[in-house]
Amino acid sequence: MSEKKHEILLADDETTFRETFAKVLEEEGFSVAGVGNGRDAIDALMKHSYALAILDIQMPGCDGISVLREAMAMRPQTRVIMVTAYGSVEMAVEAIKLGACDYVMKPVRFDEMLTRIRQQLRYLELEAENQELREELNGRFDISQIIGETFVMEQVFETVRKVAPTRSNVLITGESGTGKELVAHAIHSLSPSNTGRFVAVNCSAIPETLLESELFGHKKGSFTSAFEDKQGLFETARGGTLFLDEIGHMPMGCQVKLLRAVEQRQILPVGSTSPVNVDLRLIAATNRDLVKEIKEGHFRQDLYYRMNVVGVHLPPLRERREDIPLLVEHFVKRYNAEMGKHCTRVSREAMKRLVAHEWRGNVRELQNVIERAVIFAEDETIEVTDIALVGSDAALGIEDSEDLQSAVRAYEKEQIYRALNKYSWDKAETAKALGIGLSSLYRKIDELAIPSGKRSVRKV
Ligand SMILES: Nc1ncnc2c1ncn2[C@@H]1O[C@H](COP(=O)(O)OP(=O)(O)OP(=O)(O)O)[C@@H](O)[C@H]1O
Ligand SMILES: [Mg+2]
Repeated sequence: MSEKKHEILLADDETTFRETFAKVLEEEGFSVAGVGNGRDAIDALMKHSYALAILDIQMPGCDGISVLREAMAMRPQTRVIMVTAYGSVEMAVEAIKLGACDYVMKPVRFDEMLTRIRQQLRYLELEAENQELREELNGRFDISQIIGETFVMEQVFETVRKVAPTRSNVLITGESGTGKELVAHAIHSLSPSNTGRFVAVNCSAIPETLLESELFGHKKGSFTSAFEDKQGLFETARGGTLFLDEIGHMPMGCQVKLLRAVEQRQILPVGSTSPVNVDLRLIAATNRDLVKEIKEGHFRQDLYYRMNVVGVHLPPLRERREDIPLLVEHFVKRYNAEMGKHCTRVSREAMKRLVAHEWRGNVRELQNVIERAVIFAEDETIEVTDIALVGSDAALGIEDSEDLQSAVRAYEKEQIYRALNKYSWDKAETAKALGIGLSSLYRKIDELAIPSGKRSVRKV
């Protein structure tokens, strides 16, 4: 538990119980305010924000249920535990429906009560932690994390800044790995009116039959496997952003329904007859040429116009090579921090290669190449031998090396590293596959400075 004293409101009309239990709680390190009736409890809640309130249901004047109602309206984040007389379970159920988190029966056992209080406070701590993580994650998608100084990227930034405060639909286009999702996140986090989440759905990864229910939800029994009501992603993203990734892959049938949802800002869950209003921002992305898809009859023109209110096009990396050194520096810093390495330089030859490469996989490919280079770099300089470029003779770093011994080392390192990844860093398996003894493998990992750990390298 955290250092800060949790504040608890204890509302019970039985003076002896209240005073004794307050003492117990204080001894346990909590700060307690005790009140003897419902009115005082409401007053206390109005004046102060308690982490937790313990409310007796039977109190003179204003009962615990009424206090609970007020508490939920005023301080919905307060955790409330109800105390109820033996046998009045219905009351307790009612209280839970109204927003209480738990209830205990009288006579109250102090140790049981303490356990339940701790559970609720732990919940609050986890929630706070989650919030922090969310903020951290948003920070990662901050616009400052999108690297680029070329004119085309400046234009992208300008559009992002202008569109973020609006609720207009945005269509992001660009080849794979150009940063479409990153830009979508940035628009979401720069939008001041956002109260909801960023929810992403990959339209190409979900079978056609499920996509509709995934997006709009369904009612229990609307199809064979619909065992209960399910909320759709449109509702999950309410108040926030729904990111429709790979929209170019969306089946025509679903496009019609999406169009209706976009136009009317209303959805109809599968099997339901009552439409639900949804207020959110839609961002779609695709690496397909939608104009071509429209001509070929695979994409609806009306949906295209609805989504493309504002268009953001991310140019491929080979059309903005001037950004490569900046991106390299950015990723080297990131992986240094993640891996505790200290690369500070990239050799001229290595940089020349990086700038000249084709980058079919765009920034994602560059990021992976740098991740690997940081792993492999033996000192503060990333050398050409640390860089493995797909589709290039230099993949093994041999071509440029004049010194046979370091070429052999580079080759060996590459082979071992690949094998380790293939066998998920299971050293016994790897050694077997490489046809060497386990102790030799350990020695080589050490000699060749292959960073240990269960890492898997993402595919480009
Ligand atoms: N300009 C950039 N600056 C920093 N990092 C970037 C930039 N563009 C892309 N990235 C990084 O490259 C990786 C790929 O980006 P992202 O997933 O946004 O691409 P995408 O266009 O959505 O690709 P795909 O079409 O394959 O889904 C991510 O890790 C992202 O953080
Ligand atoms: Mg993507």
